[in-house]
Formats: sequence, C-alpha cells, structure tokens
Amino acid sequence: MGMKPKVLAANWKMNTDLQQGMKLAADINNKVNASGVEPHARIILGVPFIHLSEIAKIMDYRRFSLAAQNCAECDSGAYTGEVSAEMIKSTGAHYVIIGHSERRHIFKESYESLQNKVDVCLKNALRPIFCCGETLDDRKKEMHKKVVEEQLKASFFHVNEEYLMRSIIAYEPVWAIGTGETATPEQAQEMHEWIRTLLRDHYKNSNVDDVPILYGGSVKPGNASDLFKQQDINGGLVGGASLKAESFMSILKAF
Ligand code: PGA
Repeated sequence: MGMKPKVLAANWKMNTDLQQGMKLAADINNKVNASGVEPHARIILGVPFIHLSEIAKIMDYRRFSLAAQNCAECDSGAYTGEVSAEMIKSTGAHYVIIGHSERRHIFKESYESLQNKVDVCLKNALRPIFCCGETLDDRKKEMHKKVVEEQLKASFFHVNEEYLMRSIIAYEPVWAIGTGETATPEQAQEMHEWIRTLLRDHYKNSNVDDVPILYGGSVKPGNASDLFKQQDINGGLVGGASLKAESFMSILKAF
C-alpha cells in the first residue's frame, strides 16, 4: 500500500465575480507557494465555469488543478445554456464535481443523468469528483448507509477499474452542508469505511485505498485535523471556508 492520498478541494459554488475570483485564486496560489505547506497534497479549486480559463492562466500547475462544478450530460449540440465536458477540458481544468447534493436536490438531477455526466467526463479525460451523502431524514431513519450505497451503485459503479482509479469520491452528508454542523470524525469515518468496503467488494482487483474519499460538510480550520486523521478520510471538499485564502490555508495545514 502506498502513501495515504491527500486531497483538498474547494467548492466555491455560485460565489465571486470574475475579478473577485481571480483575486482569491491568486491569493491562495501565492500563500500556498510561499508556505511550501503539504507538498504531497493535491489541491483542487472548484470554481464557476466562466472563471476557469482565466484562473488557469495564473495558477501554479505543480500544486493546483481546477474543477468545474457541473457539466452537461450530452457531448454537444442544441442544449442552450449548457457547458460540455469538452469545453471544460479545453480551459485547462482536470476535474468536474458531479452529483453535488445541491445539484441533486435543487436541480433534480437524476441517477441516470449523473451516470451520463460521469461517462462524458471520463471520456473527455476529466476526472469526476463524485458526491454522495444522505439527508437528515435518511439518517434519522438509519438509512444513511443504504442511501449512499444506492447513489454509488446507480450512477458511479458502472465505471471500469481504470476509470475508478482516476476518480475521487466525496461523502457529504446533506445535513452538514453549509449548516455549520459537521459530522463527528467517528460518524464520517464510519461512512468512509463503508464506501471503501463497497469499493473493495465491487472492484476486487483494484487498490481501492488509492481512491481518495473526501469528507464535505462544514469543514473548517477548527475541525479539519480531527477529520483528516481518520483512516479512510483522505481530505475535504470545502465550501464556505474555501472562500477566504486564510481559512483554506489553515485547512491545508491540518493534514
Ligand atoms: P460547506 O460546503 O463547506 O459550506 O458546508 C461543502 C460543499 O457543499 O461541498
């Protein structure tokens, strides 16, 4: 078994205009480079579509990759307002966040649509950051493991082993996203271990320990290190706390 992978991904969501986004990206880039912190961690910035190509020009590619927060499920054509995987790839981005709970719940993205997005992404040499996670109601009914299993089986487990190894999974309990409420390290570890077990059962010949599983949901400088210490937690997908260079840096230092 190799070294435990470490990944810190930011999800800016629909925040910052282009100028603010450029400034934030430059700030993060400079702070990370000046500090030399965690050279082995992969750092991914999930920014709005229209920021991608501009931010790509100013980031140090040895440390940073960019991610889109969504992509169209079809290749190209008459889909007004959609952004394709090929377009994303052409900006210099390497990742796409797929199946974030806001996409699932607000935009009603179906299992089938998410499966298509995973495929179109991989076909265009982009790496999916596939999100899963239960609602508070699911957890109260003790359905959290079942729900996450269903989400993975419905939209992600069709990918082959080679594609699995290019992917990242993010466990994000919906009740912890943007609420200030975080899963305890034990609750998070239990779910990450469950996801790792599902991967092991499904991809018998792969080294599933090398597939990063990120925790997301109110990750902050104060709770990151206890989360990242857990055996099956390989880092975080960070929303609110990624919008300030200082707090994002503190989370990176928590590895
Ligand atoms: P949050 O968002 O860190 O603001 O809770 C995480 C996410 O939605 O990816």
